[in-house]
Amino acid sequence: MRHSSDLGIDLGTSNVLIYGRGRGIIYKEPAVLAQNRDTGAIIALGEEAHRMLGRAPGSIEVKRVTRGGSVGKDLHLVGAMLLRFVIAANGKHLINGPHIVLSVPSTLNESERRGLSGSLFETGARRTQIINRNIAAALGADLPIGEAYGSMIVDIGGSLTDIAVLSMGNAVVSENVALGGDSFDEAIARYIRRKHNLLIGEITAEEIKVRIGSVMPRRDELYLDITGRDLISGLPKTLRITSDEVLEAMEEPLQELIEVIHAVLERTPAELAADIFDNGIVLSGGGALLDGLADAVSIALKINCRVADQPQECVARGCGLTMEKYSELGHYLAASRKRK
Ligand SMILES: Nc1ncnc2c1ncn2[C@@H]1O[C@H](COP(=O)(O)OP(=O)(O)O)[C@@H](O)[C@H]1O
Ligand SMILES: [Mg+2]
Repeated sequence: MRHSSDLGIDLGTSNVLIYGRGRGIIYKEPAVLAQNRDTGAIIALGEEAHRMLGRAPGSIEVKRVTRGGSVGKDLHLVGAMLLRFVIAANGKHLINGPHIVLSVPSTLNESERRGLSGSLFETGARRTQIINRNIAAALGADLPIGEAYGSMIVDIGGSLTDIAVLSMGNAVVSENVALGGDSFDEAIARYIRRKHNLLIGEITAEEIKVRIGSVMPRRDELYLDITGRDLISGLPKTLRITSDEVLEAMEEPLQELIEVIHAVLERTPAELAADIFDNGIVLSGGGALLDGLADAVSIALKINCRVADQPQECVARGCGLTMEKYSELGHYLAASRKRK
């Protein structure tokens, strides 16, 4: 049997993930592009552009295009990036093209959403639809959001976190905040600069977080040797960082995250809050992979909290599920746009 070419796409603030209907995740690339400042030409995309972050000469601008939570004047660039990713993952379709369901950062406005879903028609798509990010994340995390029962999803992306309490197919309370995995990287870089007078780049800060970072004390201390620029001598220097230091560095963004989850719970109607108390809070997004996060949230809020299976894939999977189970889940999609 031929594969379906229908796609679910998660355009996040850090990564683009593509789910092929009946196939699972088929593509993942950083939402990064490198552009020639003079000509505007796109020089590199995805992983290749990501490697240029902090390393490009002045004539090349390396952009994390969706990081700021809006695309604004870069709309056509983001559209071009999506187009190239979709064609790389799925080919171009001249007849009977795919149905595409897209999730974008929740802060994008209506015209940005329309512009991006419209750009997908150039892949040959016959139909494109947008789905709310918190709904896609919750579906991908297998939460029973259609029922008269409260479920809480916290999707932690690179620079944006979406929190929602869902019941009977709707977000009863929701919030998005400019806080995410990147906030932890930035806190680590600030800490190392303040404490050790060492300047490190964002790639190094993220590596520290992923390799030895935890927001719960570790039984055995880990360490990592990192290199940056010494602020006093101005020269490169290598330093050993311990997991205890990283724990201390990440305390501030951790407390902010817990605070916003707390604020959403305070606004949640009592019956739904009771359901969440029984069933727990579910974390999704790449940020949910931070070691110890679910435990730290559980302890702070005294509510059970767990990480969804394959948390970084939840949004893209949720987009794909709406097509795989269209009769049951299709109503979560916004009105459809068809190729003219
Ligand atoms: N193993 C890991 N440990 C901690 N953080 C991680 C891990 N893997 C990815 N992340 C973080 O997840 C974030 C990206 O999550 P993602 O869901 O892809 O973002 P978005 O949906 O905004 O594009 C980044 O901040 C990244 O550092
Ligand atoms: Mg994500």
